[in-house]
Amino acid sequence: MTDAGSKLAAALAERFGEDFAIPQTAGLDALARMADHRSMRAYAPREVPASLIRTLCAVALSAPTKSDLQQADIVIVSDPTVRAKLDEWCGENPWVKAAPAFLVFCANNRRQLRIHERHAIAFANDHLDAFFNAAVDAGIVLSAFVTAAEAAGLGTCPISAIRNRAADVSALLGLPDRVFPVAGLCVGWPAHPGGISPRLPTGLRVHENRYDEGDLDAAIAAYDERRNRTRPFAKQRDPARFGTSPAYGWSQDKARQYAAPERADFGAYIRKIGFRLD
Ligand SMILES: Cc1cc2nc3c(=O)[nH]c(=O)nc-3n(C[C@H](O)[C@H](O)[C@H](O)COP(=O)(O)O)c2cc1C
Repeated sequence: MTDAGSKLAAALAERFGEDFAIPQTAGLDALARMADHRSMRAYAPREVPASLIRTLCAVALSAPTKSDLQQADIVIVSDPTVRAKLDEWCGENPWVKAAPAFLVFCANNRRQLRIHERHAIAFANDHLDAFFNAAVDAGIVLSAFVTAAEAAGLGTCPISAIRNRAADVSALLGLPDRVFPVAGLCVGWPAHPGGISPRLPTGLRVHENRYDEGDLDAAIAAYDERRNRTRPFAKQRDPARFGTSPAYGWSQDKARQYAAPERADFGAYIRKIGFRLD
């Protein structure tokens, strides 16, 4: 196998705990790099050139977009005063403050409305679909930016915590109605190599012709066990409420996470900026 093929196989084996037969194909270097993805939360004290950020934005905005509607925007936060506010609001994620660069990926349905006004054609597709399409586009652009940044040697960490105060973030960034933040993104040169985060087995998530989850509980138990062996959780969530568990794993962590509502005011904010969600 080629060097890139071996790297790809090793990254996928570590990620999924499975062996993959790597085919001979073009682009193995790029695939190996994507499979090796890792969120990075510690950065070297080195600036990221503005020209590199702008170039990565353009590359990310080259991603596919629903119906060519182009409903994702990126806000580069370079003003230290604005940045300080976001750092403060994301205080539970100290890597936001530590990141040399910070971006906010937004969904933008406003332009579509303007287009309707411009042509005096009523906007009738005004229901959940409008919100959904714009949010999906923003997620796709975020993902493309992460891949592009990693190809350039940068490390990134998406930040949904900015939506904890979506209305405040909107006001701070001057987002008009029908434009909303989907996620922030820390960007910087990695301070250390980081590590591959294991994922659920592909058998659970890749289906052929028909959805088939097999023995879901057994698969989750096996994943919890593999993850505990390879990348155990450093901390248990909310021990005051749930105590500590000797077999704390991914599924328990996720169950504890959503035992409390997060961003329960987000729907009200989205409606307030003009979306209809029915
Ligand atoms: C939309 C989105 C929002 C995220 N928000 C946060 C966040 O607020 N804080 C954080 O530390 N990581 C955040 N992450 C990073 C995830 O925790 C990370 O992707 C996940 O743990 C898997 O790790 P990996 O990216 O290294 O494979 C977010 C990721 C995505 C895609």
